[in-house]
Amino acid sequence: MENIKNITILTGAGISAESGISTFRDQNGLWENHEIEDVATPEGFQRNPELVYKFYNQRRFQLSQDNIVPNPAHMALAKLEREFSGSVLVITQNVDDLHERAGQKNLIHMHGELMKMRCVASNKIYKAPNFFDGDTPCPCCQEAGNLRPHIVWFGEMPFQMDKIQSELLNSDLFLSIGTSALVYPASIFYRWAAQGGAKTIELNLESTVASDRFDENFQGKASELVPGFVEDLLSGNISPEVS
Ligand code: APR
Repeated sequence: MENIKNITILTGAGISAESGISTFRDQNGLWENHEIEDVATPEGFQRNPELVYKFYNQRRFQLSQDNIVPNPAHMALAKLEREFSGSVLVITQNVDDLHERAGQKNLIHMHGELMKMRCVASNKIYKAPNFFDGDTPCPCCQEAGNLRPHIVWFGEMPFQMDKIQSELLNSDLFLSIGTSALVYPASIFYRWAAQGGAKTIELNLESTVASDRFDENFQGKASELVPGFVEDLLSGNISPEVS
């Protein structure tokens, strides 16, 4: 039997839910309380930048509270990266920094990062202060109004898609953790991984629109499912073969 050498892992808001960060589409989620068109599109930012700055300033403020810390699922994935004999890549749709705070190094933030801002003139990326808005002068051009959240909005291209696609095609095992699988292109990553011959496994609180397309499914809370799954992987108890 071949061994698992390359693992790619897609994470979504569900992995951070137990750290106290709202998901998007669950009851009382971010999109139940805000209009996507207003706060998560380039057009919304053009129409009402102050609303968009405020939305992300509030979320950044929440993320910086002492009680928001990585949970056992983030910690387990970081342990997997440290201890697994092959390669582990986490591709996250999350804009929080909980994976890196847990110690994850090989990490792609495909939808951007809440703790960063970007100059629209130079495309330079900076660590974001707690609050910034249309009056904040940009560190590179000194212009007010040139800074935007370093977030991929609807209608924009996620980051590092070429690398993501080649890593997925090259993986032996693909895990999808805590995502509703409703947002393209992350919603089809399982397909690229399967094309490359990977076994595909979904770990989520509930079944999703994509569940029956995965080779295996596990349902439960990420903080409870992921640590046990990682221990099984590290001890060689997960077979790369599709049963
Ligand atoms: N453990 C595991 N899964 C959970 C947990 C938990 N504790 N809590 C919720 N979930 C699951 C939900 O059942 C749901 O299927 O996590 C999923 C979260 O789905 P969404 O809220 O749609 O979040 P996500 O899939 O990350 O959204 C994708 O949409 O709006 C955009 O850019 C935003 O990156 C985001 C993208």
